[in-house]
Amino acid sequence: MSHLYWQPIEGLQIAIDGPSGSGKGTVALELGKELGLPVLDTGLLYRFTAWQAQQAEIDIHNETAVLQHLKASLKSMQWSIDGIFFLGKDCTSQLRSEDVGGLASLVAASNNIRKTLLDVQRDLAQSGCVMDGRDIGSVVLPQAQGKFFLTASVRERARRRWSQLRVNDPELSIEHIVQDLTARDQRDAKRECAPLSHVEGAIKIDSTIMRADEVVDRMLSVLERKELIKAL
Ligand code: DC
Repeated sequence: MSHLYWQPIEGLQIAIDGPSGSGKGTVALELGKELGLPVLDTGLLYRFTAWQAQQAEIDIHNETAVLQHLKASLKSMQWSIDGIFFLGKDCTSQLRSEDVGGLASLVAASNNIRKTLLDVQRDLAQSGCVMDGRDIGSVVLPQAQGKFFLTASVRERARRRWSQLRVNDPELSIEHIVQDLTARDQRDAKRECAPLSHVEGAIKIDSTIMRADEVVDRMLSVLERKELIKAL
């Protein structure tokens, strides 16, 4: 379908939620490109929060201190489709490391931290976007016209992550990643505030045996059927 040009309705907001490694990031980028919409990865904000605490040697379990530091750091942070810049420097690749990801899932369980990041997310989404995360369709943009819930088996998600990480870490086993992803999934789905969930109205896509471009095509056809985009 990618030979077509698409026109989205004005201010179209598309929420893509799903667990780690489900392919949300790749698919969101492709979909945004097809539709000419900015793509915002909300996981980076939780990663930024954790990374800032780590840099300042703050105990990640000390919610008050993490939050206070976050509020101060936000003043020097820019978040955009290109990633996150802090004090004018691109720190996105540092944020994407596995250890920062693990710490991010701990700070993401805090209601106060989530509330602080909510306004940052809503401000940027106003004029239309593709936004990916865990609670976009349920909490951040409940009014989003297009909502998707992307999943894949834990083994396939671990395999995808392993194929990215093994270049720098040849000793890494898929089993190790399966354990890590399972623990993160449980934390993200069982937390009290804004847990990862399949919100009503979100179209579920299981990408276990689909390529990213097939997932994007499926999304485009759903959006077209809902008259949220039109082929030119
Ligand atoms: O998608 P990711 O791996 O970059 O996300 C990092 C952590 O942040 C992950 O444990 C889930 C959490 N997160 C969240 O709770 N809500 C979001 N909207 C995005 C990410």
